[in-house]
Amino acid sequence: MSTRHGTALVTGASSGIGAAYAGRLASHGWDTVLVARRGQRLDDLAQRLREGTGTVVETLVADLSEPGDLARVTRRAAAGDDIGFLLNNAGINGYGPFAGLEPELMTKILDLNVLAVTALTRAAVPGMLERGRGTLVNVASQLAFAGALPPHPLPERAVYGGTKGYVVTFTRTLAAELAGTPLRIQVLCPGLTATEFHRSRGDEPVPGRNQSVHEDGGMPVDQVVDASLAALDTGEVVCVPGLEDPAPVDSLAEAELAIRTAARRGGS
Ligand SMILES: NC(=O)c1ccc[n+]([C@@H]2O[C@H](COP(=O)([O-])OP(=O)(O)OC[C@H]3O[C@@H](n4cnc5c(N)ncnc54)[C@H](OP(=O)(O)O)[C@@H]3O)[C@@H](O)[C@H]2O)c1
Repeated sequence: MSTRHGTALVTGASSGIGAAYAGRLASHGWDTVLVARRGQRLDDLAQRLREGTGTVVETLVADLSEPGDLARVTRRAAAGDDIGFLLNNAGINGYGPFAGLEPELMTKILDLNVLAVTALTRAAVPGMLERGRGTLVNVASQLAFAGALPPHPLPERAVYGGTKGYVVTFTRTLAAELAGTPLRIQVLCPGLTATEFHRSRGDEPVPGRNQSVHEDGGMPVDQVVDASLAALDTGEVVCVPGLEDPAPVDSLAEAELAIRTAARRGGS
């Protein structure tokens, strides 16, 4: 089946939010490019999507923290004239005390959560602008906002929280730059979501976490996808699943503006 939409490139499509989002996009008629390291999982999902939706599904096995693999996927994101939706979703956490964070894992978190998101966006946006349509969704986290604040601080997440803060600022700033173009841009900020995310830090399983069941609780992935799609329809740039009233997001923007305004006055 050829689609009216074009092709969606989804990173981290082998599980969790990415797999659910890819499934939803395919059910809406998008062809998909599924990206992750676990090829068998991508193949299984691809088969289900082809059979269930009749859409065209491509798989790209890639470790987005590896420069060669990232270059291959950015080439795919930029190639041709078909990528109309980019979901930058792949991410790892690497939680643990900062002073003990393994330098290799630290680099991997930054490469995957920051560099790959930026490089893929840079690859996809020019074609979207040229074609006059396109959607970009970058997955951040609620930890970008208040991970360090009482009454419920979540320590041992400095690098992860920092990367997600980057994704929020990067996406909001890009959205402002591209306001007035037909592109839809969103940063999706889930809270705790029922996926495999907390069972490993980097590639290492976390002891005591069951690998075979989704035991972490949290919001079901379908609700995260629902929230993202609804926010795309209304044009919200910052999407926080579960936040019924966007007033806190508006207040955040007002507070940021107040800081800039007050700082300008102070400096003059
Ligand atoms: N779950 C939560 O509570 C939560 C909350 C806030 C934000 N988030 C964010 O949501 C996004 C998706 O996470 P999830 O919750 O769906 O977790 P997940 O089930 O662990 O999915 C993570 C995905 O990223 C892929 N991935 C990991 N390392 C990769 C690499 N080096 N190269 C390519 N792909 C890689 C994984 O596939 P392979 O292992 O096959 O490569 C997997 O498909 C992440 O950015 C995460 O930070 C999650």
